[in-house]
Amino acid sequence: MRQIIAGNWKMNGKFTDIAPYASALSSTPSPAQLIVCPPFPLLPGFAAALKDSGAELGAQDCHANGSGAHTGDVCAALLAESGASYVILGHSERRADHGETNADVAAKVLAALAAGLIPIVCVGESEAERDAGEAEAVVRQQLTHSLPPAFKGLIAYEPIWAIGTGRTPSEADVTAMHAAIRAVLIAQFPETGAATPILYGGSVTPGNAASLLALPEVGGALVGGASLNAADFLAIAASAPVS
Ligand code: PGA
Repeated sequence: MRQIIAGNWKMNGKFTDIAPYASALSSTPSPAQLIVCPPFPLLPGFAAALKDSGAELGAQDCHANGSGAHTGDVCAALLAESGASYVILGHSERRADHGETNADVAAKVLAALAAGLIPIVCVGESEAERDAGEAEAVVRQQLTHSLPPAFKGLIAYEPIWAIGTGRTPSEADVTAMHAAIRAVLIAQFPETGAATPILYGGSVTPGNAASLLALPEVGGALVGGASLNAADFLAIAASAPVS
């Protein structure tokens, strides 16, 4: 299976970024499946610009309801209509900034699936939780409560302390956590759990991508800061092993 390299632009980017970024992605063959997750307003422009590139589009959140009085929120069906095929859910920045709980994330996963979007569900421990030896327990708990019984999609393991800090866990810690996540997925979803891609996220750069992407049970990366530069994003994707 091809690895998946998803770029999470967060609250960055402008309309004039679309053409040069899309042109770089369209003209560079990649061994990995690329997914660009820009802010909502850039989705339709990117959808047109990436049409023949093979790259896919994702959004960064959706509401759990299909419509209604939810000022400032966007429903999953509108994201699909805007050109998204994927949606990042439960990112730690949303859990922290918007108080999203595991139950909120599970409800959003159902809404995404109902709209035909593939959810990328983020989990990960804080630094205090890792220091206390609770990292795996925290992530197990997040998985159990953020994934509804009908879950189909991707998981992104993103240790909170590694996001935007330039720090990454040791290879042994990434390997142990991805093995723990795989075990939970197989137990929770006997039919699909073995094949669910598990991405690593947190300070992935062109310099460390090859070693992270080669680890067992790492099916790709969710890239924040380094995804804003097309050359860096493509260099990370070029490091993906081909199996
Ligand atoms: P980062 O962000 O690559 O800038 O650390 C990753 C993420 O938050 O998805």
